Amino acid sequence: MTKLKKANDQEAIKEAARIIKEGGLVAFPTETVYGLGADALNYEACKAIFKAKGRPSDNPLIVHIADTESLSDIAQPPDSKSVKLMEKFWPGPLTLIFTKKPNISDIISGGLDTVAVRMPDNETALSLIREAQTPIAAPSANLSGSPSPTRAEHVKIDLEGKIDMILDGGCSVVGLESTIVDLSGNIPTLLRPGAITLEMLEGILGPVAVHPEIVPDNTDPPRAPGMKYKHYAPKAKITVITAKRKARIAKYIRQKAEEIDANCAILSHKQDLDKYKGLKAYSLEPETLFATLRQMDIDGIEQVFVHALEEKGINRAVMNRLRKASGGDVVDLDTVLFVCTGNTCRSPMAQALWESYKTGCPAKSRGISVIPGSSLNENARKILDAKGISLKNFDSKQLTRNDVAAASIILCMTEAHADYVKQMTKDPWKVHTLSGYINENAADISDPFGGNISTYEACAKELEYFISKIVENKEKISV
Ligand code: TXA
Ligand code: MG
Repeated sequence: MTKLKKANDQEAIKEAARIIKEGGLVAFPTETVYGLGADALNYEACKAIFKAKGRPSDNPLIVHIADTESLSDIAQPPDSKSVKLMEKFWPGPLTLIFTKKPNISDIISGGLDTVAVRMPDNETALSLIREAQTPIAAPSANLSGSPSPTRAEHVKIDLEGKIDMILDGGCSVVGLESTIVDLSGNIPTLLRPGAITLEMLEGILGPVAVHPEIVPDNTDPPRAPGMKYKHYAPKAKITVITAKRKARIAKYIRQKAEEIDANCAILSHKQDLDKYKGLKAYSLEPETLFATLRQMDIDGIEQVFVHALEEKGINRAVMNRLRKASGGDVVDLDTVLFVCTGNTCRSPMAQALWESYKTGCPAKSRGISVIPGSSLNENARKILDAKGISLKNFDSKQLTRNDVAAASIILCMTEAHADYVKQMTKDPWKVHTLSGYINENAADISDPFGGNISTYEACAKELEYFISKIVENKEKISV
């Protein structure tokens, strides 16, 4: 049985503190999301957190304290940068990584020699920690994989019967988990964006690096703890749609929403909701994001299209959570798509050459008849390596209707390719040959396949000529 008590009752907090001291589990409100607390110095109690949540055991926990003096019980003394951040943002939605003391077990640190610590800005949370007279380890109080809880009722749905008590302190005001910053390296690194924004941190620390895992267009495999797990996933499939121009996002989403049979919904900032009249749309705000994801499940939504927000301030955190929830299903409408036959020579070289110009518009390449299992041609690879613009983990991919729909502009190697691709879209105006796009009457780019290295060199030179011309004329790219 899980007790549910109102947090404004001092007796309830005392009871909760007793449960923690005796090795039990209590869910409690914080300003970010509800936490599932256990005595951080009790190994078995911390272990029970993982069981209740179904959490992978290598994902470390945040330790919560109520005063800065308690930090010295669990971590080595903070450096001057950490002290500055603590003075400015504690209590508050900021977690800092410190070198741990030996009393912090491996179950909390996930086997690392560091410990994540924060001081929550919530009276119930602070009184509970003080009453329990111990630091409290607490992940978000949801089942692993479901959206973080911002109300007691969310905790109850996920963890009823699995924990001893829930303290109901109403809605979490921030609604997104704390910002996590690692100050152990030369440059401070943002590990998880939250309400203490990158801009706020840089205001105090100067330049802050963003961990590669949370850079929006990152496709590398995850390295840091906690980042590798798919989080916040509702039952619905989530697709994030992004573009520099909002009108383009709305046009694409409306078209998709009308095309598909699934029960679909749109998630967009309230100022864009009027673009989705007649369709089921939910408002996208930081404080209510997780509650809305849960509500969509209740409403039986099967497909969600997210109208992406600009990556700044707290919206960086909102988009980070949504990209995770999408499992990487992000459509960037500013993408330039290069098309050739087999996606082994011309189009991958064009993709790499395009990317070397760093236009801000990502490039993809596809083939119209790809041999399964094929990859970058060896000669093409040598040419790109020599230019220092190698493509990482490249596999040849067959062109699909979705690729065509998602691309902003499609640049084909030959007239024949362009004619083929035009059949795949209602927007044939966005399909061009490379030469046609810059109004040159040049011939098709011929296939170097089977040729020697100098054939490839000549091909790369030709591609580079056209791409540099197009990049000079960049305005045309964002249609
Ligand atoms: O706002 C919050 O931080 C909430 C409330 C309850 O305080 N807690 C929370 O905990 O979001 P959780 O477990 O859901 O997320 C903790 C994150 C994980 O991504 C974990 O990998 C990271 O913190 N973390 C914990 N210890 C770490 C460490 N020593 N180094 C790097 N990352 C760490
Ligand atoms: Mg969590």
